[in-house]
Amino acid sequence: MNLVTNHHLGTVILFKCEKQQLKRLSARKGKIALLTTEPPDKHDRLLAGAFLFERRRREVKKCLLVGMVLTLFISLAGVTGCVEARPPAEEAAPAEEETVCIDTSLRSLAQVHNMQVGAAVQAGLLATNPRYAETLRCEFSMLVPENAMKFEHVHPGRDRYDFSTADAIVDFAEANGMQVRGHTLVWHSQLPDWLTEGNWTRDELIKILQEHIMTVVGHYQGRIVAWDVVNEAVDDGGSLRDTFWLQGIGEDYIKLAFCWAHEADPEALLFYNDYGGEGLEPKSDTIYELIQSLLDEGVPIHGVGLQMHLSLDSYPKAQDVATNLNRLSVLGLEAHITEMDVRIQQPVTEEKLNEQAYVYRDILQVCLSAQNCKAFVLWGVTDRYSWIPLFFPGYQAALIFDENCDPKPAYYALTDVLAGH
Ligand code: GLA
Repeated sequence: MNLVTNHHLGTVILFKCEKQQLKRLSARKGKIALLTTEPPDKHDRLLAGAFLFERRRREVKKCLLVGMVLTLFISLAGVTGCVEARPPAEEAAPAEEETVCIDTSLRSLAQVHNMQVGAAVQAGLLATNPRYAETLRCEFSMLVPENAMKFEHVHPGRDRYDFSTADAIVDFAEANGMQVRGHTLVWHSQLPDWLTEGNWTRDELIKILQEHIMTVVGHYQGRIVAWDVVNEAVDDGGSLRDTFWLQGIGEDYIKLAFCWAHEADPEALLFYNDYGGEGLEPKSDTIYELIQSLLDEGVPIHGVGLQMHLSLDSYPKAQDVATNLNRLSVLGLEAHITEMDVRIQQPVTEEKLNEQAYVYRDILQVCLSAQNCKAFVLWGVTDRYSWIPLFFPGYQAALIFDENCDPKPAYYALTDVLAGH
């Protein structure tokens, strides 16, 4: 108990310390703005950004150190004041140490905006890597199983379901007051061989998909805030993607999937999720028209997921994303940024990391300004376990925590936006 209370006191000191430094930092930012009479070009922005992010990083580090030393000192000395004295060692319960989460974490800053910040997670790492688990617990308020709810994992045999891995993620989320996005019910990828190699009639496939959706959504009824019901049904040219499901069932598979998911959990928000349709491009027009026609038919669909897998080589204009979010809002739809990462071509330089920070910052700013954008989810936590190097050889460093789980400029850019700097 005392350990917790003492940590608390140290944390309070730490928070105060950080807030003062944040104030000083914003004052400096103000000066930079005053000195710049011309609108800064990209290079100036990057230089100023490098300066600010580096200062902020050093200050937060210094602050953390001060807080930790004080916490340790207070704990060791058994300082009382508002806190109880520490009981003799033999009476102390075996303490399970938990990292104290800072007041300026993404999670606590986002709470003020009524927005969820999330990350895709791997259950294996949750169980074996304490730093990974603690980063999730402190920094994020929403989790998405990176793979554990996909068809091949959760439904490995015609009559066999395996929820063990996905359950571990949902349990962790609930134990830490986090929401869960379910990902994903109908996709053309990561399907099990028993399914893709079978010779099914249309009716059989309809039955299989219905049973799959009813079972998986039913298993988590009341525990998943939003489901990615259909993933990536539109191809890069802006037509319906020619998938296993389209070939086997026809285009009705989309509306059927939403109807079954709604039947299995009427409270869950149901999303269409895709990449490459974030801004204003042919693909986002197709997605918009598809969803609009589903809504006209009365299909229960509540939101659109903008995956946001970006690259420093090409990313959508923030203004276009804002316009897209707005037209979805006019349809009465929620939007989530569902899988954001920003890959960098090697070599990764400080300048590229700062430019990456600006991309993250702009997208979060757009989401924050849109009244229907309620969640900002990253596709992973640390660069160490990101899918990027494997799928995009020559690219890396796409996330906001580095290989050691230390925050990158992009992390500070996000906390700055949420703190209103
Ligand atoms: C897509 C899927 C995700 C994931 C990523 C890459 O965006 O929706 O589930 O597989 O690709 O890892």
